[in-house]
Amino acid sequence: MAVLFSLFLCVASVTSSNLIYDGRVPYSMQNAALDTSSGPFLTAVKGHNESATHYSTLLGHSALPTPLWNTAGFPPTEQVISIRIDNTSVFVPGGGPPQFGFRRTEFIAQKAGNATALDAEMETGVTVFHFSIKGDGQRPLNYSHEYQVVFIEPSDGTHVFGIQLGSPFTNPTGALPAPNAHSFKVLDHALNVLFTATFSPLRWHNFAVTVDWERLTLKVSYSIEGSALKSVTSTLMNPTATPGAIGDFHFGVLKLPIVNQKDSAADKSDVVHHGIQEGTTEGLFYSGVFVERL
Ligand SMILES: *[C@@H]1O[C@H](CO)[C@@H](O)[C@H](O)[C@H]1NC(C)=O
Ligand SMILES: *[C@@H]1O[C@H](CO)[C@@H](O)[C@H](O)[C@H]1NC(C)=O
Ligand SMILES: *[C@@H]1O[C@H](CO)[C@@H](O)[C@H](O)[C@H]1NC(C)=O
Ligand SMILES: *[C@@H]1O[C@H](CO)[C@@H](O)[C@H](O)[C@H]1NC(C)=O
Repeated sequence: MAVLFSLFLCVASVTSSNLIYDGRVPYSMQNAALDTSSGPFLTAVKGHNESATHYSTLLGHSALPTPLWNTAGFPPTEQVISIRIDNTSVFVPGGGPPQFGFRRTEFIAQKAGNATALDAEMETGVTVFHFSIKGDGQRPLNYSHEYQVVFIEPSDGTHVFGIQLGSPFTNPTGALPAPNAHSFKVLDHALNVLFTATFSPLRWHNFAVTVDWERLTLKVSYSIEGSALKSVTSTLMNPTATPGAIGDFHFGVLKLPIVNQKDSAADKSDVVHHGIQEGTTEGLFYSGVFVERL
């Protein structure tokens, strides 16, 4: 059985020699590892007063991961990761004030306990960021809000690329939900929308974003459930990205507020610290997270 299982693991890897980072969670990994950030994820971006396992759970055999990379039949090779926010999901960054405008829980890719070292390894040359996303049927998002669910964030707070759901934040608030609220938006560094796809919460949505760190380009591939990935953009310039600006690979749920009319003009645009949050419990499921070198 052990031998069979490891064979399955080989089959599931894309081309394992090119695999730089594997965030596909084996069944041997326990939830307790999330609380100590001892696995492939740094789990520090979460509500200040609760443990990581208050906001995230490895679902064991109770949910099926994306069929795209779990092709060896049953059991699949990885566990689904549930990531949730609630009203306590107020992150307090080191040395900064609490982020009362946001509600956020994010996993950051790390290897050997070090996200920084991994960034340097996976953000040169041409690398492909894979991730699959499904709705949490019990904890739907509120499409009147903006969500940032996957992004690579250099230290200046910009995103090399990002995946957005919901209604893009505007000040003043426009008609909600926005027309494209129920779609994934794949954004470049300048926030141009490169690709949109309707989010059907009951299905796995598979993304692969190819980043050329030297030529500063992006290319998006996409599929649903077990269908093969297909290119949905050509290789596009990432016009405002800067050479050497690498950063942490985040995935999870980051919910922006709605403008509070009672706030001052300055506070209305300070989405990090101000604005309205209903405090609902919401979540997404992830699987198929890995990075390979082309
Ligand atoms: C949510 O949290 C904020 C900030 O701590 C608090 O002001 C608000 O009353 C809470 N809302 C609910 C519904 O608990
Ligand atoms: C953590 O809990 C304390 C005590 O209840 C509360 O005063 C504080 O605002 C909480 N911090 C955050 C970031 O929610
Ligand atoms: C993590 O990696 C970076 C870059 O290689 C290195 O500078 C740093 O010392 C490492 N941190 C730890 C805790 O090992
Ligand atoms: C969703 O957000 C909108 C805008 O803030 C709010 O009016 C609505 O009550 C929220 N819905 C739920 C279920 O919390």
